[in-house]
Amino acid sequence: MRAQLARDFARFARELPRDFASYVRETYRINLSARYLGFDLPHPIGKGSGQLSLNESQLETDRAAGLAFVVLKTVIAQDETGAQTMAAWAVHETKMAIERRQSAAGRNGWTVTWKGRGWDRSFDDYLALVRTAADLTRDGGLVAVPSVKYHLPRLDEPFREAEYRFTTRALAKAWGAIPLALEKDFSPTLSGDALADDRAQILRWLREVPVQIRAAAPVRLAVKLMNARFDDDFQLDMLAAASSADTLVVFNRLFDAARGVAYGGWDLSERNLRVLEKLTPGASPGLVGIGVTPGSGPGIVGTGNIHSGRLILEYARRGCSAVQLHTFFQLPLSEYPATAGSRTQRVLHKLVFDPADGLVAGLLDLEADGTLARRGGELHFLDVVADAHRPR
Ligand SMILES: Cc1cc2nc3c(=O)[nH]c(=O)nc-3n(C[C@H](O)[C@H](O)[C@H](O)COP(=O)(O)O)c2cc1C
Repeated sequence: MRAQLARDFARFARELPRDFASYVRETYRINLSARYLGFDLPHPIGKGSGQLSLNESQLETDRAAGLAFVVLKTVIAQDETGAQTMAAWAVHETKMAIERRQSAAGRNGWTVTWKGRGWDRSFDDYLALVRTAADLTRDGGLVAVPSVKYHLPRLDEPFREAEYRFTTRALAKAWGAIPLALEKDFSPTLSGDALADDRAQILRWLREVPVQIRAAAPVRLAVKLMNARFDDDFQLDMLAAASSADTLVVFNRLFDAARGVAYGGWDLSERNLRVLEKLTPGASPGLVGIGVTPGSGPGIVGTGNIHSGRLILEYARRGCSAVQLHTFFQLPLSEYPATAGSRTQRVLHKLVFDPADGLVAGLLDLEADGTLARRGGELHFLDVVADAHRPR
């Protein structure tokens, strides 16, 4: 199988088969099936919300490459008059810079530096993109879901219900099926805002925002949590507070207060994995450790510095049933071993087939060291996730 993997890696460097998950299943008897927000996926690799999901042609490239899911750029909520309390987040900024970033522990990684925030075109334009995303999702070619940032009040203020109502209902209508699948973003720039200085205020948002959204329309809701400027235990408090969501996406980028920008790299994955480690093993699905009843908690999806199959497995071993990447799609082309194809194809080629640190190699290693056993002759990616939740 290792020799086969080396051959496939070389061969697919020129062209990745779109249905590579079926190929992996037939050739290696490895089932890569994964889950995101109630959707069954052929494999765990998706694209996080950002500048790489702004239009139909980006979605089409991702569909053609065989990506499992995409989260559309975050739109800033508005009420029926067009008023946006989070308008400061709808800033226009086009220039992104991919930079090397050394972590506090001295590991070299990549980060994207960018001063923009949310969707900066009209809400109607966003609704048109949501209609396209809904069609792709229904056709089974690519799961693509919208993302929103809604009004976040201070502790002594009420929520602007009109914003929640108008935006959620408009999205539900454009989505055209029940329930609407939606991500709610608590972004890293928010961590740099005075609004997020107060722990009680953040925990109230996490408890009440899902209630506000669900009051507007039937929604399957993913909450994407930020890395707040507090300690690891507070990250756990945030997970517990947001546990009425259907899925938790953990955790968005860190915030560099000195430069006023969000960043990623190894500091991000080390922190995220360290916090998730505190939930597992023994937590089902990840939140027992913080008081959520087994079997009733939300699913967990990982994000942060994922650039190899091994990192996908690090997140999976801590309970993540799928992953969302952003930075790895933006590296200089010379960083990918593939010699042809779209960036999305090159990313998938490296993540899945790299004989040293790809997903197939990593799953075969887990089998070899006795961590993962075949079931019905197959290795299952989701067994790695289930095992994270099993008491030891
Ligand atoms: C330029 C840029 C813009 C982003 N915009 C959003 C956004 O609008 N909404 C959101 O939820 N996440 C946003 N993200 C976060 C990514 O989706 C992802 O979760 C995060 O960057 C961590 O993954 P990575 O290390 O693979 O980049 C953005 C990230 C980058 C780099």
